[in-house]
Amino acid sequence: MASLTVRQLDDRLKQLLRLRAARHGRSMEDEIRVILRAAAQGGSHKAAEHAAPPVSPSPRVSSAVAAAGGRVLLVIGGGIAAYKSLDLIRRLQDRGTSVRCILTPAAQHFVMPLAAGALCGERAYTDLFDPQSEFDVGHIRLARDTDLIVVAPATADLIAKLAGGHADDLASAVLLATAKPILIAPAMNRQMWAAKATQRNLAQLVADGVRVVGPNAGEMAERGEAGVGRMAEPLEIVAAVEAITCKTGVLSGTRMLVTSGPTSEPIDPVRFIANRSSGKQGHAIAAAAAAAGAEVVLISGPVNLPDPSGVTVVRIETAQQMLAAVEQALPVDVAVFAAAVADWRVERVSSRKIKKQRGGPPKLELVENPDILSTVAHRKSGRPRLVIGFAAETDDVIANAKAKLKKKGCDWILANDVSPATGIMGGDANTVHLVTASGVESWPPQAKDGVARTLVERIAAALVEAKK
Ligand SMILES: Cc1cc2nc3c(=O)[nH]c(=O)nc-3n(C[C@H](O)[C@H](O)[C@H](O)COP(=O)(O)O)c2cc1C
Repeated sequence: MASLTVRQLDDRLKQLLRLRAARHGRSMEDEIRVILRAAAQGGSHKAAEHAAPPVSPSPRVSSAVAAAGGRVLLVIGGGIAAYKSLDLIRRLQDRGTSVRCILTPAAQHFVMPLAAGALCGERAYTDLFDPQSEFDVGHIRLARDTDLIVVAPATADLIAKLAGGHADDLASAVLLATAKPILIAPAMNRQMWAAKATQRNLAQLVADGVRVVGPNAGEMAERGEAGVGRMAEPLEIVAAVEAITCKTGVLSGTRMLVTSGPTSEPIDPVRFIANRSSGKQGHAIAAAAAAAGAEVVLISGPVNLPDPSGVTVVRIETAQQMLAAVEQALPVDVAVFAAAVADWRVERVSSRKIKKQRGGPPKLELVENPDILSTVAHRKSGRPRLVIGFAAETDDVIANAKAKLKKKGCDWILANDVSPATGIMGGDANTVHLVTASGVESWPPQAKDGVARTLVERIAAALVEAKK
């Protein structure tokens, strides 16, 4: 008996078949079966199109591919970055991930459901009250039959709806109805991103366990617009997806919190107290932990670094904000405090720029900031299993680190010499000494990435040891 495969069809026929299959939510092979069956029964293609139930609903296509690289439900929001989501579909598929798509009504102004559906090999879903979808796949199945939901671009509006628990369209209903992990890739104009409401909604989502990738700083899709708010690139989103779905590393199943960068304590609207921390070491630790399969929340002061892939980043400015963000991120298994938190803040921040006065410079009264490391290490309930601090010292590095270990009540201290001659503060390399209750171990000078990887291995080994 002669055999014919889809691959042997000419391009025009293949294209027609792909669109028709996408429209019906079937694989191309199943679509051919429906057509042949209708022909055998003497019916026309038209009759088959309307009468025949899908021989194999799309999940079969998904599950075949899913075995290779998981299933992602991609929610495309109504932002100008929606065009990048078409590339995201291909990039995910390149890795063997099967992708289904939901487009919000606003998204359909930017990309066509047909284009998204043709790329997915299955029709794109758009309506909550679509009888065909509800009898076939339906919003509950969309929410359930996936390993991860990715929202890209996540508009300010979708972020607000998700934070508020709305369910008045297909995208928000599915996001509310899912028990699967959610990853959002925010994209919006910088003012919308900086808006208090957006930041408040985002903080709520992070507290609810939603993962965030980006946004990046740079030029926006709209001409002449730049700043923070640009959607993460498709490959960055893929990396974040892989960090969530491929939990095979040594820290798989571990929830981790990392603080990084300096804090910035205001004096008046234009002046502040800061320090020279670059955040490079803390960010490297967060990246290494995520690469090792941990679920990581990175709480960072103002730094000039890209967000590590697959990490949820919470941005703060002051020590008090950092403590609040840390407490919101708890409980975690491991907490690494790499941020250089200002010891003091100005007691009374002036709401107006302080002017030069004849009587000499103003007197700034300082008050002590909360000790974040000590606060977490001394928690009676919900203390992380492993609390790790950093000691940046310029004198008696190891002796000071040993004293700090005791005083702060943490489990490990990573001590480093930050005298200007070492170039550690702001540099790419670090020389650290691991100080624990059982002794001091000096690691060789290495790149901050190397320190991060060594630390991650140590943490993994300690968690295994603690389970014995
Ligand atoms: C040209 C244009 C570009 C837009 N780009 C964005 C954007 O990048 N991010 C965003 O949050 N909203 C953007 N909006 C506004 C959203 O489309 C609007 O808030 C819409 O209600 C979002 O719906 P959705 O969240 O259901 O997709 C844009 C609107 C227009 C007209």
